[in-house]
Amino acid sequence: MIVYVNGSFVSEEEAKVSVFDHGFLYGDGVFEGIKAYNGRIFALDEHVDRFFESAQSIQLLLPLSRNEMKKAILETVRRNNLKDAYIRPVASRGKGALGLDPRSCPKATVVIIVDAEIRHPEDTGGASLSQKGIKVITTTFRRNGPDVLSPRIKSTNYLNNILAKLQANAVGVQDAIFLNEQGFVCELTGDNLFIVKNSRVLTPPLWFGILDGVTRRVVLRIAKEMRLETTEEPLTLHDLYTSDECFCTATRIEVVSIVWVDGRQIGSGAPGPVTVQITKRFLDLANREGAPIFE
Ligand SMILES: Cc1ncc(COP(=O)(O)O)c(C=O)c1O
Repeated sequence: MIVYVNGSFVSEEEAKVSVFDHGFLYGDGVFEGIKAYNGRIFALDEHVDRFFESAQSIQLLLPLSRNEMKKAILETVRRNNLKDAYIRPVASRGKGALGLDPRSCPKATVVIIVDAEIRHPEDTGGASLSQKGIKVITTTFRRNGPDVLSPRIKSTNYLNNILAKLQANAVGVQDAIFLNEQGFVCELTGDNLFIVKNSRVLTPPLWFGILDGVTRRVVLRIAKEMRLETTEEPLTLHDLYTSDECFCTATRIEVVSIVWVDGRQIGSGAPGPVTVQITKRFLDLANREGAPIFE
């Protein structure tokens, strides 16, 4: 694989970041997860905008413009000669002194990694499981609030999420749902959450402390196109347990049905008709729309 590191394209073996980088020492950085389908990078503008917003929020000055970033992402995929890819841009505070003060880091590190494997079955416990639907629990770890470390920042500090994932692993389910400090449902460890109730598509609002997922936005748009009522409103575990359908969304896993939550079967115990339709429309769109890689 060819990796972009600070303006150069180098081999995987040559792609190195300093052990003094504050991204490594303190998790001081931001990242994105983007996918290319069928020769096009899906929602490239949205992902690059979110990358720059995350950087702005942590006062990280990126050494390239949004346009240059888009070009660098396209060029990295092109150099790897991939039509389908998972793309991971990362920016960290850069090399500095051992103290955590970012002022000792004069220049951000920017890396773009690509992966030819776009399905990532390990995220949901295997390809067949993502088709059958996954089991999840509610984690006892609260989602860090917007006044602690805003989940709107896609930061390289994912320990809150990893603690919840460890809990899911410990009981042998695929993922965990976070509640916020008030006990309302937020999101999963790396995915946004939706329920379907009486043909209404519901998802928690952004101000609850969740990532503004690109897939979430697209799914809301698709549900509207399907003439389904959509609302971003506070949801409790009761709403989840009694929903007709439940599913999660993320760039990596796309749309995956949730069929079991905290011991309760959801709906029929299999992906419901609305989830199936939304998944199909999402994949149709992702395979059609996007920034062309080879033009
Ligand atoms: C915590 C969290 N929530 C939601 C998402 C889904 O976001 P997107 O659809 O933009 O991939 C992600 C994925 O990056 C995430 O890490």
